[in-house]
Amino acid sequence: MKCSLTLIPLTLAAWCYAEFPPRIVEVSLDEPPKERWAPLMKMINVSYFREIVPQIIDQFRQGEAEKLHPDIKPELEDLEAYMPRQYAGEIQGLASLSGVNITDIILLNFAYELTAFCTSIVAQDTNGRIYHGRNLDKPFNNNNESSSLFVKAARKLTVDILFMRDGKVAYRGTSFAGYIGLWTGQSANKFTISGNQRDDGFSLENVTLASWLIRETLEEAASYKDALERLSKVPIITHIYYIVAGVQPGEGAVVTRNSSGEADVWELDPPHGQWFRVQTNYDHWNPPPDTDKHRTPTINALNATGQENITFDSLFKVLTVYPTCDETTIYTTVMSAGTPEKYCTVVREKCIQIKICSDSKGITSVGLICIIISISIIIFVCLFLWCKYRN
Ligand SMILES: *[C@@H]1O[C@H](CO)[C@@H](O)[C@H](O)[C@H]1NC(C)=O
Ligand SMILES: *[C@@H]1O[C@H](CO)[C@@H](O)[C@H](O)[C@H]1NC(C)=O
Ligand SMILES: *[C@@H]1O[C@H](CO)[C@@H](O)[C@H](O)[C@H]1NC(C)=O
Ligand SMILES: *[C@@H]1O[C@H](CO)[C@@H](O)[C@H](O)[C@H]1NC(C)=O
Ligand SMILES: *[C@@H]1O[C@H](CO)[C@@H](O)[C@H](O)[C@H]1NC(C)=O
Ligand SMILES: *[C@@H]1O[C@H](CO)[C@@H](O)[C@H](O)[C@H]1NC(C)=O
Ligand SMILES: *[C@@H]1O[C@H](CO)[C@@H](O)[C@H](O)[C@H]1NC(C)=O
Repeated sequence: MKCSLTLIPLTLAAWCYAEFPPRIVEVSLDEPPKERWAPLMKMINVSYFREIVPQIIDQFRQGEAEKLHPDIKPELEDLEAYMPRQYAGEIQGLASLSGVNITDIILLNFAYELTAFCTSIVAQDTNGRIYHGRNLDKPFNNNNESSSLFVKAARKLTVDILFMRDGKVAYRGTSFAGYIGLWTGQSANKFTISGNQRDDGFSLENVTLASWLIRETLEEAASYKDALERLSKVPIITHIYYIVAGVQPGEGAVVTRNSSGEADVWELDPPHGQWFRVQTNYDHWNPPPDTDKHRTPTINALNATGQENITFDSLFKVLTVYPTCDETTIYTTVMSAGTPEKYCTVVREKCIQIKICSDSKGITSVGLICIIISISIIIFVCLFLWCKYRN
């Protein structure tokens, strides 16, 4: 009995490592597209990557790919010809660097493109500061075996990417190894963007993936207004929700997109008490359907927090509360373009409220807990040896 007590700190130790910041990789835009992703391939376990990509694609083919417009399927295979040159080059580079068939890398990018199930929040505090948070959840809503395969793989492959130009960060974002688009990103002191999947609407007229438009906007847009304009107007391949946040009071909006243009732009309206917007995977003007488990709890949690108490910590907490965060959540990002250095992503496994994304500096509570747990493990191991020895 006494000996089994040692299991307690071991379990706690597992928790200690359940939530962690992803690895950070620098991708230089000054390098030719084919060579840009070399630092990523040096960082990840390439044999794991080679092993998992065909599995993800298999699930994708069996599941979501069926929903694609029939026109798109044959073209997927030689999509390379239709892509903007920069991205075609990056995809070729990924294929040769990893040793994965280029068709598979293209399909991988399509698999991820259909998978942004999530919750995004834009909020303004009482000082007029704008915050932006997002959870990225499970893909493939059809089959739970493939979901769990994908969720596990996606957690392992989550990376924070610093896109560098002239030795400086041009913009940054969070993505999955092998995926060249972004679902979450920041252009420092200008704006932040997240994307949420809408429905299965597809148009092949312009092969700009919704996640490429996020990247392009981060790369090119001069301001929040410019970003909002591009995200609303540029033709894309899918229907999508774009959530954009700026730096000035009132600069926050949810753009509901179809392929050709905006269906709706829903901005913050703090003077009328509309200090936050929550977007899940359903149109905000309709009541949430039963399948939307996230919208109402998230709104309630924000209401309970209160505008005067919105910080990185409290926003992270809102995104940690069940069921906004659940077993399908892959990562949480909190960001604020006005304080770009605080951009923070945590890979989720247990949805524990930890202070990785804290407003305050110094030792985080998770660090402290881990130190305490490490010390107690040593003590308990000693006790264990001692009680074994006595028997
Ligand atoms: C890399 O991945 C392979 C295949 O999944 C695995 O066998 C190997 O142990 C991994 N290596 C490391 C260092 O994690
Ligand atoms: C990639 O895979 C496709 C089909 O799976 C195959 O037709 C093609 O020859 C492969 N390409 C290379 C370079 O191996
Ligand atoms: C798998 O999905 C079915 C229905 O889609 C559900 O009833 C079942 O509980 C799920 N299993 C797990 C392990 O989540
Ligand atoms: C596709 O993109 C081109 C160039 O950006 C544009 O001229 C054209 O109108 C777009 N097609 C559609 C259907 O949006
Ligand atoms: C897509 O959005 C455009 C611009 O708002 C609108 O004119 C068009 O009717 C929409 N198409 C569909 C299918 O909703
Ligand atoms: C949130 O608070 C606002 C203002 O107090 C209120 O109008 C709204 O109904 C609340 N929403 C929910 C879901 O409780
Ligand atoms: C904001 O936080 C303060 C102190 O933590 C608390 O007293 C107050 O009730 C909070 N406001 C709301 C609306 O919850």
